[in-house]
Amino acid sequence: MRGLVYSVLRRRASVRWYAGGEVGRDVVERLVEAATWAPSAHNAQPWRFVAVFSRGVKERLARLMGERWLRDLVGDGVPADRARAMVEESVKRITGAPVVIVVALTMRDMDRYPDERRSRAEFLMAVQSVAAAIENLLIAAEAEGLGACWMCAPLFAPEEVRCVLRLPDDFEPQALITLGVPAEKPEKPPRKPLREVLRFDTWC
Ligand SMILES: Cc1cc2nc3c(=O)[nH]c(=O)nc-3n(C[C@H](O)[C@H](O)[C@H](O)COP(=O)(O)O)c2cc1C
Repeated sequence: MRGLVYSVLRRRASVRWYAGGEVGRDVVERLVEAATWAPSAHNAQPWRFVAVFSRGVKERLARLMGERWLRDLVGDGVPADRARAMVEESVKRITGAPVVIVVALTMRDMDRYPDERRSRAEFLMAVQSVAAAIENLLIAAEAEGLGACWMCAPLFAPEEVRCVLRLPDDFEPQALITLGVPAEKPEKPPRKPLREVLRFDTWC
């Protein structure tokens, strides 16, 4: 059991390109159920998921988020040709995935505070809870033999995502997960050595 868990954790890698095979709704349900076993602050379970199978919806989502990204890139001074190529690749990745799962956060069942310091901590707890759920989902996808990639685009284009998916006002888009049968076996990017990220007792 221990060996199995560690090996799945090590094996998971972001897969960005997918082969043609379908992913069934039953698989998506298993993955999202696995996601919901993540810990969450106050057990508030502030995660919400929208699984998109429709080619048209994926296309609208990718295009609208892409337009927003293009404006940002050009505003940053990236040459228009280069910016368009980056956006096109992102659109291809999203529309080329058999399923995309948009993950949103809701503060509906989180605690409320009158002050900024505690409100911010509460919001961060919701973000951390959603991130824990996403990691569960990615690990479960690996265990299913599927590939997945966490994409941050919805964070940069929340209104566009809300509009395409007709999300309720309290849903705050956090991430988009592309999912499918891998068409690539990506190299696992190296990790910083433990001595750089771990200290015992105190930092120095
Ligand atoms: C919060 C977050 C946002 C990410 N956003 C993107 C993204 O927009 N596009 C992408 O290709 N990968 C994205 N990734 C995946 C990372 O690039 C990837 O996890 C990292 O390079 C380590 O590689 P690995 O997942 O294969 O171990 C994101 C990961 C996280 C945790």
